[in-house]
Order: sequence, then structure tokens, then C-alpha cells
Amino acid sequence: MRPGIRGMDLLNMQILNKGTAFSSEERSALALHGLLPPQVETLDEQVVRAYEAYKRKTDDLERHIYLRALQDNNEVLFYRLLFDHIEEMTPIVYTPVVALGCQQFSHIYRRPRGLFVSYPLRDSIPLLLRNRPNAEVDVIVVTDGERILGIGDQGVGGLGIPIGKLSLYTLIGGIHPARTLPIVLDVGTNNPERLKDPQYLGWRHERITGQPYFDFIEQFVNAVKREMPNTCLQWEDFARDHARPILDRYCNELLTFNDDIQGTAAVTLGAILGAVKVSRIPLKDQQIVFFGAGSAAIGVADYLRRAMVSDGLSEQEARRRIWIVDRMGLLHTGRTDLDDDQKIYAQAAEQITDFPCGADGHIGLANVIQKIKAGILIGLSTVGGAFSEPIVRDMARKVERPIILPLSNPTDRSEATAEDLIRWTDGRALVASGSPFAPVEYGGRQIAIAQCNNVYIFPAVGLGVVASRARRVTDGMLEAAARTLAQHSPAIKHSNAALLPPLRDVRAVARKIAIAVGQEAQRAGVASKTGEEQLAEQVNRTQWVPQYGAHGAL
Ligand code: NAI
Repeated sequence: MRPGIRGMDLLNMQILNKGTAFSSEERSALALHGLLPPQVETLDEQVVRAYEAYKRKTDDLERHIYLRALQDNNEVLFYRLLFDHIEEMTPIVYTPVVALGCQQFSHIYRRPRGLFVSYPLRDSIPLLLRNRPNAEVDVIVVTDGERILGIGDQGVGGLGIPIGKLSLYTLIGGIHPARTLPIVLDVGTNNPERLKDPQYLGWRHERITGQPYFDFIEQFVNAVKREMPNTCLQWEDFARDHARPILDRYCNELLTFNDDIQGTAAVTLGAILGAVKVSRIPLKDQQIVFFGAGSAAIGVADYLRRAMVSDGLSEQEARRRIWIVDRMGLLHTGRTDLDDDQKIYAQAAEQITDFPCGADGHIGLANVIQKIKAGILIGLSTVGGAFSEPIVRDMARKVERPIILPLSNPTDRSEATAEDLIRWTDGRALVASGSPFAPVEYGGRQIAIAQCNNVYIFPAVGLGVVASRARRVTDGMLEAAARTLAQHSPAIKHSNAALLPPLRDVRAVARKIAIAVGQEAQRAGVASKTGEEQLAEQVNRTQWVPQYGAHGAL
């Protein structure tokens, strides 16, 4: 226990508070007698009561508020409760319910958590950072609230996302809760509902854009570099026009990554590599088709290309195996509307002269599937139902185990339902989805469907970075994370199992991923070399466990 902290001050410190679990001796030593009911409880007993209270809540937002309040009151109890009910509560503290928490942020606000870095105070950012609750920080998650999940601009309410996400860094990665810091960059909001809400807690101003915006980001990054030079800075839910430039600008300057870009690509690569192992056709021999050529699709294509090159293909050979279709049809060199990121995947126009076109004159998804032997089909198009029965059946005619990932969110935008995919392929498809799907009953089997959720990657990457004291987060480290995740695909061992592990196993898998991330960091020269055993020991030591110590939680 920290010396000097006693009585109510101690009970008000969420990281040290044990509530009714303070022993009689502790109560005597720390001036707690009388402040607590006389019964001394174990953590297990506290969990029973907390779960009872949780169960009494009547809707998801109330459950979210309850858990957030518990987090602000007693973090060990909060994480133990979450840990014991991980499948049930992860969607409440994080997606999808956190979206409601962000929309209602100004109405459900209770206690401060994290930092508000507001544009009008831009010349005092170092001072704001120095006011942080705990001096030592391992991971920051920062958002500017502009592109929160699927609900757009939430202004300062976006802070709900870094808070929720850091809970998962702790729950799964084991990053110490007192060493995490959620931050919102309050650069205004263009959301008219927020602006006209009298309760809105952010800066009432339209969003800062253009050079002043990037100057502000620069001021923020410089302050982080000065105040917390060894901290991992994760960018979250920035608008597309800001996300990539910020990542490109800073990825070689500090320990940083963008989970929307790199985490999404890594988890999808992990699911695909797991499926590829089941299909027994190596990635480098697969033809891959994307439907959708937006930021998510290009990010995933970049990682698949990287992985194929790591597996021995030339850059050119890897590109030729990736077929991307968007609103205007197949990406090819005859098109003049492609941006630089998309041009990389343009198929040579002279190679596709015999490809049929749809009624609109474009080479559509059905045309591509008809002409090539596609083994992998990925949907990142936002077009619900785009993977139609004829397209899926055509694909499944040519490959034994078609790998199909309808990744668009929410469920009504999913390119196909898991059930249809399983049915249309006579139970042969290997499916992972963006939205959650219940297990599919087919031919007397119950087939589990994995959800491509970044939670498989970012907490483990955070753990690996912290444990190995890496100085950068490289794409190679994320590829290593994806490959390790794939090795733990339950579908490799059991034909009815999902492509990704169940949430209850993710903490254990995170340790393995963290070791692989640390090893890759060492190999790339961005972390000091150690033996594998030493690294594994460091990972174990870093992973915080929610239990009361003799000396308190810290
Ligand atoms: P975006 O808007 O940048 O890209 C959409 C792409 O789909 C564009 O290339 C567009 O041309 C194409 N498209 C739209 N309508 C089409 C049509 N009728 N025919 C052919 N192509 C069409 O969106 P972004 O950010 O790339 O996200 C796409 C989807 O992926 C979203 O639903 C998002 O929720 C989901 N997503 C899922 C993730 C996951 O499962 N982990 C992670 C990231 C995104």
C-alpha cells in the first residue's frame, strides 16, 4: 500500500481500494474501521455481489454505466468480474454497447478518467499531460472522436472508446490498469446534435481542419515525446483523411500504431492464415478476391501481400494474386480513377481482355469469380447480401474449402450470412465475419463462426511491446502477431470449431502473441536482444492479474 494514504482517501483510489476485502489488520493500520461494514469478504464473494447487481440492470446502457462506475471504484473487482464473465461483458464495456456510451457520454458522465486535450488549451499541452493521474504510462489510446465505430462524429464523447479499449488492454493483454491513459483530442465537433445539446461537455465549436489540425496533432505528439517518450501511442477512430497521414508521419518517430488500419489488417490476416492451414493450400498459392476497395480492404490487402512475400513470392507475383472489385468493377491498369494505394492492385488490362462484363459495362464480382479459381473471398464493401448464392456456388465449385469473410458491419451490411455461406457450400466454407453470427447447424454439425475482432491483436501487441521495451511498432510485428494467432486457430484441430479462439482463451493466446511480437521487435532491431525464455518470463511478469496483494493492488 502506498505510504500515507489512509481512510476515505484510500477507499476513493480505485486502484488501491479493496472495499469489504480489507482485512481487520489493514483496517486497523489504515484508519478504515467504521468506514466499512464489519464483515470481511474475499474477492470471490465481492464478485458474486457485483454480478448480482449487474444482473439487476435492465438494459445494456445501464449495464455499461454500472461497469464503468465499478471500474472507477475498485479496479481489481471490475477486472475480476469481467474476467469471470468475459463473453457476456466484453460487448458491454466495448463494442457494440460502448457506442451508446459515446453517444450518451455527456449525459452519463460521472467521474474523470483519462485526459481531455482541448484545442483552446493547445499551448499548454505539456502541462495537461503532466496532470495525468499516474506518472508511469505504458499505453495511451487517443481519439479525436471524429469517426467513432459506425456512428460518426461524437466529439468529446469519443473518449468512451479509448476507455473501453484500454479496459481490454488490461483484461486481455494484462497491461497494468494504472499504466494506461485514455485521451481525447477535443478539436470540436460537426455533429449538430452534440452542438445543440445543452449538456454537451466538449468544446462547442466546429471541427478544426487542415493545417491547424495537423499543427495541433504535432503539438500533441511533441508533448507526448517529451513527457512520456517510452509510451506506446495508439491512434483510434480518426477519420480516413487524418488516420493514414498521421500514421505515416509518426510511425518512424515514436512507438505508435493505428489499430483501425494495422490491427484490422492483422486480425483478418490471422483468420485467413488459420483458414489456409485448414484448407491445406498455402497462402502463396491462393487467388484472393476482395469486394470493396476502401481503406479497410486496402489495409488488409497490404498485409496479405506482405505475408505472401514473406512466404517466398516476389512483390509482383503477390500482387497478381490479389483481385479487388469496387463500385466501378475490377481494379485494372485501364482505369483512371484509382488512388495510389489502389493502383498497387490494378491487374494488367491486357491480361483481362477476355473477362466478361456485367450489364453496367464493368467487370463485376461475379465475372471475376467466374474467370479465376478464387480460394479466398473477402467482403469490405458495406453492401449487404453482395455474396449471392450463384457467386458463392460458382466459387465453391472450383475449390474444396472456400475461405469466405463477409466483414462489413453492422449485420445488415454483411455481404452474406454465415448460415447461407455454409449451406450454399454444402458445409465446406471456412467463414469468419465482421458482425457476430450464432453457430450454424448443418448436416448434424454445429459450426462455430469467428468474428474478426481486433481484440485478438491489440492487447497482445501492447503486451509484447511493453514486455520487450520495443521502441517502434513495425508492420512485421503485426504480421508476427497474425501468424501466432493463426497457429492457435481452433479450426485446425476441430472441424466444427471457429477460425479464431473463443474470448475465454484469448488472454493465454495473447501471451504467445506477445512473445512473437517481442521476438520480431528484437529481430528488427527495435528492441534489445534477449533469449526467448527471458522474453517469455518478462511477458508473464508484465501481465497484471486482478487480485488483491498483501500490499494492495499495485
Ligand atoms: P469505405 O467506404 O472506405 O469502402 C467501401 C468500399 O466498398 C469502396 O471501395 C466502394 O467502392 C466499395 N463499394 C461500395 N458499394 C459498392 C458496390 N455496390 N459494389 C462494389 N463495391 C462497392 O469503407 P471501409 O472503411 O473500407 O469499410 C468497409 C466495411 O468494412 C464497413 O462496413 C466496415 O464496418 C467494415 N469493417 C470491418 C472490420 C472488421 O470486421 N474487423 C474492420 C474495418 C471495417
